[in-house]
Amino acid sequence: MRALMTKLEQATALDRAGDRLQRAVQATLRPQRVRDLLHGVFLGHPLHPAMVQVPVGAWISAAVVDLLPGQRRAATTLVALGTVSAVPAAVAGLNDWAELSRDQRRVGLVHAAANTVGLTLYAGSLAARLTGRHGVGRALAYLGLGAASAGAYLAYKQGAQVSQSVSELHRMSDGWQPVAELAGLPQRTLVTREVDDVSVLLYRHGDEVTVMLERCPHQSGPLGEGEVQEIAGHACVVCPWHGSAFRLNGGEVVHGPSATDQQVLPTRIVDGTLQTRLP
Ligand code: FES
Repeated sequence: MRALMTKLEQATALDRAGDRLQRAVQATLRPQRVRDLLHGVFLGHPLHPAMVQVPVGAWISAAVVDLLPGQRRAATTLVALGTVSAVPAAVAGLNDWAELSRDQRRVGLVHAAANTVGLTLYAGSLAARLTGRHGVGRALAYLGLGAASAGAYLAYKQGAQVSQSVSELHRMSDGWQPVAELAGLPQRTLVTREVDDVSVLLYRHGDEVTVMLERCPHQSGPLGEGEVQEIAGHACVVCPWHGSAFRLNGGEVVHGPSATDQQVLPTRIVDGTLQTRLP
């Protein structure tokens, strides 16, 4: 399966269709607050994987109920619930997909294609059941479940959207550690330092210094190479890879595609030396 994933990631033949779809998604899903809503910024958790629980649960339940005698109505209801709820989940997924790097978009495109086939088969299943052809409806539903499962497997393997930075904390040792001399830190400028091999981002404002992990929680982009922007009255660092923005005085995510905050570390000044430790 790893070889298949690598092949998909390198399948440049998918780029033309992928680039077109990406432009269409970005032109349609506007403004930024709509995209943030669909990314799950308000939840602090990616929305797409949460939303897909409804269609997946309904469709798997329908597959079980279809095996029982006298349950046609229940199965039809479950197929209808899954089919209707899959549409907004797909919109949220497209919104996430449009922000991925090109190689990830290739895998995502196949994931989306498999799910589109699955959704079409379930829509056919629903139409068949509503017109009394329950045998056809059952067969189409099982085919749809197969297609949707293949799509879900690709997304699971790709593992996008989990916070990619907090695992770095395991490499930091306990206790306060020196990071920099306060006097040498420039004002309102992004500075990177290493603490036990973990890259941290420093931002000084007056005598206050924020220390946060430098790797973006979205997909480990180097925030130290990002820009400082004023957003909604707060200084924020904007990730250079996909544009997520995090407040520099607390790490809260302001704009996606990241749906999780950046990890900020405690600080103190001792004899003019900035120190930090594990939260
Ligand atoms: S790595 Fe994607 S927004 Fe930072």
